[in-house]
Amino acid sequence: MARHSVQQSRVGGLLLPALVAALFFAGPVLGAEELAFNHTLGGVDWPYIPGLNASLCGTGTMQSPLNIIPGNTTTASTLTALNLSYATNVSLLNVTNEGDVVELVISSGNNSVKLPPSIYSTTNGSGLVLQQFHFHTPSEHMFDGIFYAAEMHFVHKDSVTGQQAVVAVLLKLDPTDTRNPDLDKFLPFTPNNYTGVQQAPANSTLNLTNLFPSNSSYWYYNGSLTTPPCTQNVLWLIFQNPLTFSVSQLLTLEVANAGGDGARADNRLVQLLNSRTVSVFRG
Ligand SMILES: *[C@@H]1O[C@H](CO)[C@@H](O)[C@H](O)[C@H]1NC(C)=O
Ligand SMILES: *[C@@H]1O[C@H](CO)[C@@H](O)[C@H](O)[C@H]1NC(C)=O
Ligand SMILES: *[C@@H]1O[C@H](CO)[C@@H](O)[C@H](O)[C@H]1NC(C)=O
Ligand SMILES: *[C@@H]1O[C@H](CO)[C@@H](O)[C@H](O)[C@H]1NC(C)=O
Ligand SMILES: *[C@@H]1O[C@H](CO)[C@@H](O)[C@H](O)[C@H]1NC(C)=O
Ligand SMILES: *[C@@H]1O[C@H](CO)[C@@H](O)[C@H](O)[C@H]1NC(C)=O
Ligand SMILES: *[C@@H]1O[C@H](CO)[C@@H](O)[C@H](O)[C@H]1NC(C)=O
Ligand SMILES: *[C@@H]1O[C@H](CO)[C@@H](O)[C@H](O)[C@H]1NC(C)=O
Ligand SMILES: *[C@@H]1O[C@H](CO)[C@@H](O)[C@H](O)[C@H]1NC(C)=O
Ligand SMILES: *[C@@H]1O[C@H](CO)[C@@H](O)[C@H](O)[C@H]1NC(C)=O
Ligand SMILES: *[C@@H]1O[C@H](CO)[C@@H](O)[C@H](O)[C@H]1NC(C)=O
Ligand SMILES: *[C@@H]1O[C@H](CO)[C@@H](O)[C@H](O)[C@H]1NC(C)=O
Ligand SMILES: [Zn+2]
Repeated sequence: MARHSVQQSRVGGLLLPALVAALFFAGPVLGAEELAFNHTLGGVDWPYIPGLNASLCGTGTMQSPLNIIPGNTTTASTLTALNLSYATNVSLLNVTNEGDVVELVISSGNNSVKLPPSIYSTTNGSGLVLQQFHFHTPSEHMFDGIFYAAEMHFVHKDSVTGQQAVVAVLLKLDPTDTRNPDLDKFLPFTPNNYTGVQQAPANSTLNLTNLFPSNSSYWYYNGSLTTPPCTQNVLWLIFQNPLTFSVSQLLTLEVANAGGDGARADNRLVQLLNSRTVSVFRG
């Protein structure tokens, strides 16, 4: 999940001091600014940072991410394919470097996901609308103890109930180092520093549907935001089949991540499963 609290703290008057600080410290870490929290310890320090509302990150029993053990997941007959209703021609995407997350803000409110009714439907609320999507390097979830190169989080919210759902897509390096043409619609416009915001040009249109694998198999479990305040009851839908991208594209994400705390990684460490089960839908 993305750095909403960072965004808020910036709105709360930190922008000017940050810009002043950037003038004096425009050194090796591009646009470095003190973040409310960072990933240098994988998140284990978050509950102890003064003034950060992150106690749940330490005490919660339904936290994310997880190490998913595919051989230990439950096939649920109530699960159906996700119904992704996303725009096929998005232009003027705002690409921001949130300190150590590359985030894209979607202006159209038309993008939404329908989950299997046993998880969430119009009887639960008004619908799960895409707010933004962002990247983590390496992946936050592990699979049999293995990371993927990156993980995309498509963050949805029901404006009436406040319910959040994250649809996750994994990225692995292409064996022939081929660039992912859909990521190229916006990755080249990633700002190299924390305060930067750039807009992808109007002639660079993205078919959002292409950012999801054609195979509909996914894992489902009930978890949390992976950044403070680590709010629980976030619905997680993780596509099983990864998309591919190139080393150069991974580097763009890693360099942007390093703009915040100097580290290329921005994944929270995996959390305990506790009494939860991970369900599987096979498409
Ligand atoms: C998916 O949602 C769209 C509109 O949101 C609807 O028209 C379509 O019938 C749904 N498809 C399935 C398979 O439920
Ligand atoms: C997509 O958007 C571009 C730029 O706005 C436009 O030129 C093009 O005709 C659109 N394509 C479709 C299929 O709507
Ligand atoms: C994108 O950025 C532009 C320029 O900063 C701004 O006018 C616009 O409102 C932003 N769009 C969204 C969806 O945030
Ligand atoms: C959003 O949906 C409305 C109604 O279905 C449609 O008129 C409009 O063109 C859509 N906008 C985009 C950007 O897809
Ligand atoms: C949505 O409603 C169904 C049916 O009542 C229920 O089983 C499910 O737990 C609800 N989902 C959430 C996230 O509250
Ligand atoms: C920060 O990024 C923005 C957008 O890419 C750029 O315009 C600006 O020059 C950058 N600032 C620094 C200090 O690198
Ligand atoms: C988009 O516009 C820019 C500058 O106007 C141009 O350099 C680029 O070639 C255009 N791209 C496409 C796909 O038309
Ligand atoms: C968008 O991508 C989907 C899936 O790859 C494809 O079926 C659809 O035709 C594309 N739409 C446009 C307008 O490019
Ligand atoms: C979809 O992916 C799953 C998991 O990798 C695999 O078991 C299944 O065979 C795939 N389905 C198709 C139609 O390729
Ligand atoms: C702190 O986080 C908890 C759990 O996410 C939330 O319920 C509460 O509203 C937050 N408090 C403040 C002051 O932001
Ligand atoms: C990371 O966060 C911790 C806790 O707030 C702080 O002590 C440390 O200086 C930060 N590191 C970087 C590189 O920003
Ligand atoms: C496997 O699943 C069971 C039942 O959900 C759970 O109790 C156990 O902890 C899981 N084992 C591992 C290694 O995750
Ligand atoms: Zn995320």
